[in-house]
Formats: sequence, structure tokens, C-alpha cells
Amino acid sequence: TKYVVFDKTGTLTKGVFDVTGIYPGRDFTEDELLEYAAYAESYSSHPISKSLREACGELDARRATDAQEIAGHGVRTMVDGHVVLAGNARMMDDSKITYTKNTGTGTVVYVARDGQFLGSVLIADEVKEHSKQAIAALKAQGVNPCLAVILVGENPASQVYVRGKVKDCGECGIKSLELRMPETTTQEELLAKIAELAADKTVNGILVQLPLPKQINEHAVIDAIPPEKDVDGFSPVNVGRMQTGQPCFLPCTPAGCIRMIESTGTKIDGKNAVVIGRSNIVGKPAALLLLAKNATVTVCHSHTANLKEICANADILVAAVGRAGFVTGDMVKPGAVVIDVGINRGADGKLHGDVNFEEASAVAGYITPVPGGVGPMTRAMLMKNTTQAAAMQNGVAI
Ligand code: GUN
Repeated sequence: TKYVVFDKTGTLTKGVFDVTGIYPGRDFTEDELLEYAAYAESYSSHPISKSLREACGELDARRATDAQEIAGHGVRTMVDGHVVLAGNARMMDDSKITYTKNTGTGTVVYVARDGQFLGSVLIADEVKEHSKQAIAALKAQGVNPCLAVILVGENPASQVYVRGKVKDCGECGIKSLELRMPETTTQEELLAKIAELAADKTVNGILVQLPLPKQINEHAVIDAIPPEKDVDGFSPVNVGRMQTGQPCFLPCTPAGCIRMIESTGTKIDGKNAVVIGRSNIVGKPAALLLLAKNATVTVCHSHTANLKEICANADILVAAVGRAGFVTGDMVKPGAVVIDVGINRGADGKLHGDVNFEEASAVAGYITPVPGGVGPMTRAMLMKNTTQAAAMQNGVAI
């Protein structure tokens, strides 16, 4: 039986364990439950669910049915002090997994496919847990970290992302100010709001959710955020410091990608890394961070010739193009670490990554799911940056 086990530090371990109980589920917001309900259908046809069904063929019909049900929603369970992940590692509803309670001790029935499955939830949880402890220590010294998140307009994806960020702040003990401004906001109005937050000593981090409405110049806005409060790591000072290897706030998504790659035990040093996409938010900084770790880095984009051949040589493949299913199985080197940054809402209303998961997961050594991969990790890195900002601004070591 093959299955995947992460310990609490996100380290991947394999072995045979006995089921001893359930890992307590986290609380989910109503929005999240609705979102996951919408994806439940796709989960049940998810390749991991399918391989679970196959693996469960040896079990009696009743147990196999339950296992399918579990797989359909993603499972995590405590096994000898480890957390076993199957499916998306996200539960819709704890009541759905009461079956795992009944397994008692015995052979683990939760199986992932041959290529290991890299779920980020526990890695993200670990980063968040670390921030939580640092924040408690800061509070004991009279420092109350605070993040201001500005959302201009009604972009549905941005609204979901901002809600996630605010929720994570709450979980970590960071005060959040969710500031919503109308779609018609002028650049002057937004700059005035940023100036106000920049001058406010009780605000440690300022994040302006992108994209912005077209009447607002993104560069002017990012330039207005003081570098010491720029927890997104987007300001020219932080970008320049990153490029030259100086201490700075690292952009959350690329920093999270590196963390996930390293969590697999993969050494980045000397590897061929290919980044598809050259955005300021992900592609370019991801390439710089991989280079800083001594990878041989190729950045591909819409003008790249021989894309398939270049990708097929990648030990590490980061897909950040914004096109659903863009990376097909034949573009993946066997055993590669594939990080899918894409979050594309399909005509079917569901979220799709930039990678064709079904094809790529049959080839990759490790692959991140969408949703539930890079997204939670990005938010965890934001918590880390905000904690750091609060500590630095108050001259407190953490
Ligand atoms: N839009 C998409 N990703 C990001 C991000 O990491 N930060 C901000 N501010 N906006 C985004």
C-alpha cells in the first residue's frame, strides 16, 4: 500500500502506520464551506479519488464506499502522530469522516497515487503556527500587529482572496482593517488613504489588493507604500533588496513556492528550474528566488519557442501563466516538482490551475493541487511578513 504522510513540520514520510484517531478539523467559514461544496463534485472525479477507489478495491464494499466518500471531500487523519493526507486534505465537514474514527487500529486505507501528493495545508499551518506564537510574544510586550488590506472595486476573485487574508489574520491574532473602496475611486483618493495608513503607527502592514481599476496606476500606488510596511514585498525598495540578496519582505506567493519545494526534501541547488510566466507578482520574483538558491533558471513566457522541450527538462516547474490546464503531462519531466500557481475560474464555475493535474500528476514526483496548494501558503507567508513588520517597527526581536 502506498500513501503519503506529512508530519507536523510538513516533512514527507512514508511507511506503514496504524490509524489511531482523527486530526481535529479546523473551523471553516460559511464562504469556504460553500466554495468547497461547489468543488465537491470535481473532487470525486479527482485522479486521487480515483486511485483511492482502485486501492480500496480490496476492501469490502461498504468500506470502499465510505472511502470514496472520504476521498471525495479530502481527508486528513492522525496516524501514529502523523497526519495522513488524501484527496485535497481539506474537509468539507467533519461529520463526513466519522468513518475514520471506526477504523481503530489497523491498516491505513488512505492511499495517494504513486506520484506523491503535495498538499500545502499543513505546511501553511506550520508557518501560521510559528507566526501565532511570535504574535503572542509580541503582544506580551505590548505590540499588537495590525494589517490594513485595501480592496478597490468588486473583483470577485479579489474579494475571495481578501476574505482569506482577513480570516488568517484572525486565526493568527493579527488585527486586520479591511478597507473597501468603490470601483470609481480615483488614484488621489487611494493615495490619500495609503498616506493616512502610512502615518498611522498602529498599522504595521499595508496591502493593496491587485489588480486595480484601470483609472489607477498600479506603480504609483505601490510606490506610495512605505517599504517597512510593504508586507507584499512589491515596492521597488523591497524588490531591489531581494534582487541584491539583502534582508527584505519577500513577495508571498514566490516565497511560499520555495517553501513548498523545500518541504518535499528537494534540494534546489544545481537543479533545472523553469518558471512559466513573468509577472511582477510571481514569475519574476520566483525566478530570482530560485536563482538565489543556486538553481539554473529559465523563465518562459508567451514568446518562448520550444516551450515543451524546455519544460520537459525542468526538475522544478513553476506554472504562473493564468491559463487553465496550460501545462500538459508531456511537458513534465518524470519525478519533477510541479508548483501550480494558477487560479483560473472556468466556464464551469470551478477553479482550475495552470497545470492539467490529471496528466501531470501521473508523471510528477510532487505536485500542488488547485485549490488548496499555493493559495493557503501565500496567505501564511503574508502572516509571517506582517509579524516581522510589527516586530521591526517596534524594535522587538522575534
Ligand atoms: N493579487 C494577486 N496576488 C496578489 C498578492 O499577492 N498581493 C496583492 N496585493 N494582490 C494580489
